[in-house]
Amino acid sequence: MPSTCLLSLSALAAIIGIAVYLPLQRTEKLLQGPAVIENFGLEKCQRIAGPAYCEDVKIQRNLGLGFVACDPSMPFRNYAASVVDQSKMTEDGGIWVYDMNKPGSEATKLELRNFEGPFHPSGLTFAPVPAEDTPARVVVLAINHVPFEQPRVEVFHYSPARKTMTHKKTIHSKAFVTANKITASHDEYSHQIDDTPSFFVTNDHGFNITNWKREYEEKYNLPASTLAYYNARANEAVEVGWRFQLPNAIVPASDEGTFWIAAGKSGTIERYRNHLISEEHQAQQVIAIDTKTPLSIKWPGMLNDEIIQTNLINIGVDYDPLSDNLVSVAHSRWNDYVQHAKDRHDHPDKKPSVHSGFIVTKAVKYPVRIGTARAQPEKDVVYNPDEMPRKYRLKYFFEPQISHEGDQFGAVSAIAVMGDRVLLTGQYDEGILDCQL
Ligand SMILES: *[C@@H]1O[C@H](CO)[C@@H](O)[C@H](O)[C@H]1NC(C)=O
Repeated sequence: MPSTCLLSLSALAAIIGIAVYLPLQRTEKLLQGPAVIENFGLEKCQRIAGPAYCEDVKIQRNLGLGFVACDPSMPFRNYAASVVDQSKMTEDGGIWVYDMNKPGSEATKLELRNFEGPFHPSGLTFAPVPAEDTPARVVVLAINHVPFEQPRVEVFHYSPARKTMTHKKTIHSKAFVTANKITASHDEYSHQIDDTPSFFVTNDHGFNITNWKREYEEKYNLPASTLAYYNARANEAVEVGWRFQLPNAIVPASDEGTFWIAAGKSGTIERYRNHLISEEHQAQQVIAIDTKTPLSIKWPGMLNDEIIQTNLINIGVDYDPLSDNLVSVAHSRWNDYVQHAKDRHDHPDKKPSVHSGFIVTKAVKYPVRIGTARAQPEKDVVYNPDEMPRKYRLKYFFEPQISHEGDQFGAVSAIAVMGDRVLLTGQYDEGILDCQL
């Protein structure tokens, strides 16, 4: 019957229309942010002088050293805001060290030995060190994102005694499409000679800035970003995670093989767990580049095992295993941030037309009723894991600690935590923030 056919066709069209429209609408609202940005908690922070225009910060917790990646060319190469103007990029970026054992002291720039630029760092990580050790050498990995070139990873050795940073090698891969953040994977595949760890990188976009598909990715906020893994003994990287919306940070979570990812444009903090799903697809025989001997490796099988809706544009996340603190930093309004970035590029000498505010949150576990779709924290319930049948489970909720409209500090890029102290970086500010939560 033609009328039934027409009816089902139009019903289908309506369903598809709604299915496309609703997520777009949700993302639009998220990017726009709240009408009013609250202002509290900035008095808990002090500004650390030295670096400016910073993209990432990570804390080497054995030594209490904050490593900060910054770049004076930031106003002309802010890929996250789709700003790039190579002709104006005259200076290289660098890595600064802040000694957290001397709160308030100035951060110092490291001379990169045995290395010639260009250097435009966007992400940092270290080779893992057991918690009780005092390392005589720190292996530091930095993503180097030179405009119109595929991002690559630079490996350095830092000596805490001599305060020197020596370049060891550069790692290239087609899987580092738009690599921005990096984390060592804490697995057994570590280079036997130079101690380069295996690692994950987030590609914050699925398409690079010269690819025409980038425009559509931005316009429709498409979940086209990926996660890549590099095996240090196979010297090869592959994609192991897909369909992210602007992932901006990845750090190890509490269990071995688990990682937190801050997924900016989905308004979530997500946990992924490495599983052996299929021996056939994940196992491979390779010739190890360090020992030149046959080696069987397993590629990660990353499955999502927790999604925390924060309804914030999370740009950074960090977890400190010792204090069990999980923190995040988010833009108050993504659209303001992008406008701020455009202003800084178009009129570097003028005051930008909008500030770019931020919000720092800390995760707290509350009991929630098992099986509810939008679980609410049951703050009055005494959680007892032995209770049977189980009515409750524990779930993370991110609670605001600092909120700032951005006139003092803003365009945040990363957060790092040690105990109750967090370090914050901003892409257009002088210095970094050291805050006591
Ligand atoms: C960007 O993407 C295009 C199309 O996929 C590719 O041809 C080009 O080599 C890429 N450029 C860089 C710098 O990665």
